[in-house]
Amino acid sequence: MRRTVIAGNWKMNMTPSEAKKFITELAPMVKGLDKCDIVLCVPYVDIAVACEAAKGTNIHIGAENVHFAESGAYTGEVSAKMLTEIGTEYVIVGHSERRQYFGETDTTVNQRTKAALAAGLKVILCLGEVKDERLAGITDEVVAMQTKLDLAGITAEQLKNVIIAYEPVWAIGTGLTATPEQADETCGVIRSVVRDLYGAEAAEEITIQYGGSMNDANARELLSKPNVDGGLIGGASLKTDKFTSIVLAANA
Ligand code: 13P
Repeated sequence: MRRTVIAGNWKMNMTPSEAKKFITELAPMVKGLDKCDIVLCVPYVDIAVACEAAKGTNIHIGAENVHFAESGAYTGEVSAKMLTEIGTEYVIVGHSERRQYFGETDTTVNQRTKAALAAGLKVILCLGEVKDERLAGITDEVVAMQTKLDLAGITAEQLKNVIIAYEPVWAIGTGLTATPEQADETCGVIRSVVRDLYGAEAAEEITIQYGGSMNDANARELLSKPNVDGGLIGGASLKTDKFTSIVLAANA
């Protein structure tokens, strides 16, 4: 049966000392809550400190992006091997903020995903429609196309290390949340594309998260939906009490 995964995406927040303090405070709060996997995706410079602070706890550490090349002249980028060597287990790829502000396309998202998987990282692959696409009634087509393009060339074996995060762009950081029904329906569309590409078993096994203003107040209802297997949480992952409430909702 597929795992529920509650992951924080800190974005460009928290210094290394703040990260250490946060994880030290969070660890006893989530201790023993084993009905979901708990992940914090943190800025590159926080990863080493975060891994150290999370040692011996049930908190796993991820990065927020990764480059597709093994090494080379890519100023400012970080390779998958650099991440694994310092203990990183997960990486977010294709976040809408990367697509929107840093020119990421489905092609580069696919390349980054492949490089991360080849290095042994677990990938949280983000996709989702923008507001105009939802209003135009083409959400299903948009997420289906992103799913196909972003997963191109990824084997069924590799897919076991992929989590898909459905993040409607209009719901990110806006306080607007998809209704539980919208989240369930669109996660279901993504699951049906995975079924077409990889078969029924893979579709049943893959974890599909919802992300977009998920918080302590709405998590339980969103997570109760059959196609929603967890959350990718921005703002509410920056407070230990709010994040713990979401982990508790996933353990209810
Ligand atoms: P918020 O939870 O702040 O809306 O951010 C969601 C997100 O982008 C997670 O990746």
